[in-house]
Amino acid sequence: MQVNGERFLKDLHDLRAFGASGVGKGVVRPAYSEADINARDWLAGRMRDAGLEVRYDPVGSQWGLAEGTSLLIGSHTDSQPEGGWLDGALGVVMALELARAAREAGGPAVSVVNFQDEEGRFGVTTGSKIWAGQLPLDHADTLIDSAGTDLATARAAMAHLAGDFIDPARFSGFVECHIEQGPWLHESGEAIGAVTEIVGIRDMRITFEGEQNHAGTTPMHRRRDAFQALSNFNTALNDRLRNVVTPETVWTIGHVDLQPGAHSIVPGRATFSMQWRDRDTDRLRRIEAVIRDTATEVAEAQGMRLSFSELLGLEPVAMDAGLRAAIVEAAQKVAPDGWREMPSGALHDASNVAALMPAAMMFVPSIGGISHAFAEDTDEADLLCGLDVLAAALPALAAAHTG
Ligand code: GLV
Ligand code: MN
Ligand code: MN
Repeated sequence: MQVNGERFLKDLHDLRAFGASGVGKGVVRPAYSEADINARDWLAGRMRDAGLEVRYDPVGSQWGLAEGTSLLIGSHTDSQPEGGWLDGALGVVMALELARAAREAGGPAVSVVNFQDEEGRFGVTTGSKIWAGQLPLDHADTLIDSAGTDLATARAAMAHLAGDFIDPARFSGFVECHIEQGPWLHESGEAIGAVTEIVGIRDMRITFEGEQNHAGTTPMHRRRDAFQALSNFNTALNDRLRNVVTPETVWTIGHVDLQPGAHSIVPGRATFSMQWRDRDTDRLRRIEAVIRDTATEVAEAQGMRLSFSELLGLEPVAMDAGLRAAIVEAAQKVAPDGWREMPSGALHDASNVAALMPAAMMFVPSIGGISHAFAEDTDEADLLCGLDVLAAALPALAAAHTG
């Protein structure tokens, strides 16, 4: 089978035009935005040209189906509010090239998937989580984004395209190529990461509600300032987590909404995202307890009302041994000793798909370990190396769980 590197890179650059940020190779293509839907429309044409049957499911995940039983390959083309050109897009365009080259070569059969809202505008890997039966659609429809829009309203923008959910029994397994999004491959000069497992995550919103008041006339000792509560919570949390976490544990407050948000008003309400990730489910639970206790104590000490949103998350997931072995063997052939086995600290659709079928992932390096930022990039030689490794692995990947 002969993959076409030039065709693959051209598709990748063409896809970047949808939502191109104007800063470096950055992309602004959040789920269900006009840029996202237009990108999926463009991709539908490329899928049809490759002889694949295009379908959309009710959430807006997009499928390019081969006939009969096939290996499923893909990722997502939605981006973070500020994202790079490769996060997700690489895995979808690589799947397209592999499906196309495999058809030209007369097999094996490869289908392509482009999941919707992997980046979690409405939670955590929304499209694949619903497809995998881990999140009921009617419940997902009530989840809101940071602006207060719910999923039901957002996905209505794709209602004219929606068909039924795709039967997972069509696929023998799932493979996702992704940029690493961390520093390890780039620092070591290695080209390929064969993923052993994907860490677990917990994500929620916390709200402190105090009293909105005048910033000039309200004495400091009489204030119930929601920002001060958030600030104290963050300091106390960092301190208390030291006894619970490992060097691999991460936690982030990435979005803060201060109400009403004016220079001369003591903020009455602070709603913020609270996210944490770890390989160990029990540790994820212990961190949750520390977060809830710390927030409760700060609220009591500072006269705040406190509320927590629903807790969303994904469990840690091991990758399939058979598919992993096929990737490792091909990596050793294409990039001798230029690869490693490694866990994924980022989330991926493969976490959910693993509940339905054998699933595996492969990484290529991220320059400087930067991602979820306009500066995200990867050397084209590494992109091509990734394509060559999966092309070399394809016969074994396709054969791994059939018959
Ligand atoms: C997905 O992009 C993540 O947040 O890891
Ligand atoms: Mn991604
Ligand atoms: Mn991402």
